[in-house]
Amino acid sequence: MSRPIRSTDTQARNRDMKLFDGHQQIWLFGYGSLIFKADFPYIERRPASIRHWVRRFWQASHDHRGTVEVPGRVVTLIQQPGAICHGMAYLITPEEFAHLDFREKNGYLRFVTRMTFTDGSEADGLVYIATEDNEAFLGAASERDIALQIASATGPSGPNSEYLLSLAEALRELADHDEHVFGIERHLLDILD
Ligand code: BEZ
Repeated sequence: MSRPIRSTDTQARNRDMKLFDGHQQIWLFGYGSLIFKADFPYIERRPASIRHWVRRFWQASHDHRGTVEVPGRVVTLIQQPGAICHGMAYLITPEEFAHLDFREKNGYLRFVTRMTFTDGSEADGLVYIATEDNEAFLGAASERDIALQIASATGPSGPNSEYLLSLAEALRELADHDEHVFGIERHLLDILD
């Protein structure tokens, strides 16, 4: 008998977290699809950054930009002292987290983070991170191999290539030069050519 695939579903763990309990509004920092796809109501949206993290295409996507048979690759955050990760912050009500926990259920957990806005002001908020111990964590690969995997994957949310290209475009709009993302984008455009 084949071994059952262990669930990566993080919804219950996120629901049980008591972070920011009692708060009526919470900042959420987005560094991936949340930058270009805000499919939830928000009170305010502001470019922001967090320190000591880098964005990496190191997480498998079985449910959005790939399938169990042909997984895609999406971003997570990896700790790197001194690094700055640029993204978009959303001020939302706690009710929105049920939707977000479902949307990001494939290995992502909520963590508290300090974020800095472009005017230098700061706030505490939450960020979803898929840590190295989750079942869908793939880890490092060459930019070319990541691009090849992205080129071959499509899931219920659309082609994995669309995710990468939308993220790269959104980062350009934020004036963020993310060499990891742009390097993979160059390989993808070459593969698709
Ligand atoms: C984000 O854009 O912040 C995000 C990326 C992956 C999963 C959840 C959130």
